[in-house]
Amino acid sequence: MERKEFLRSLGAGAAFALTFPCLQGCSKDDVNGDKVEQPTGIDFTIDLNSTEGQKLANNGSFILKNLVVVVKDLNGNFVAATQVCSHESYDQVRFLSNDGGIFYCDVHGSRFALDGAPLNQVDSKTAKPLKIYNTELNGNMLRVFE
Ligand code: FES
Repeated sequence: MERKEFLRSLGAGAAFALTFPCLQGCSKDDVNGDKVEQPTGIDFTIDLNSTEGQKLANNGSFILKNLVVVVKDLNGNFVAATQVCSHESYDQVRFLSNDGGIFYCDVHGSRFALDGAPLNQVDSKTAKPLKIYNTELNGNMLRVFE
């Protein structure tokens, strides 16, 4: 069952609760994930023919590796961003196919464009951009680097 179908089957109230779990603010006990330091020196390669790489076969798919969200966006381009949210440093940034494809952190609901630009402001703090990494495709080898 697709996530969308699953949420639909739960009904609007439950789907809202699952999608926006921390609108009133969260303590560490309320959220998944951890507060982590932004990784440095990111430079790795993914063989798109490997078991790991095949998870990026479809547009809109993503994998998590070394605290990086590696995405094949809805247009088939590879994009990579840190998993570490610029809001409060939780490692919960993921890719969502909604809204044309965005990065999203479910801890407090921060949303980011694929270039890392913040799309909303979740509290009185100024939203900061999400760190984006370079990607380079050589044959079936995808390099992600700073
Ligand atoms: S840590 Fe607050 S929205 Fe991500």
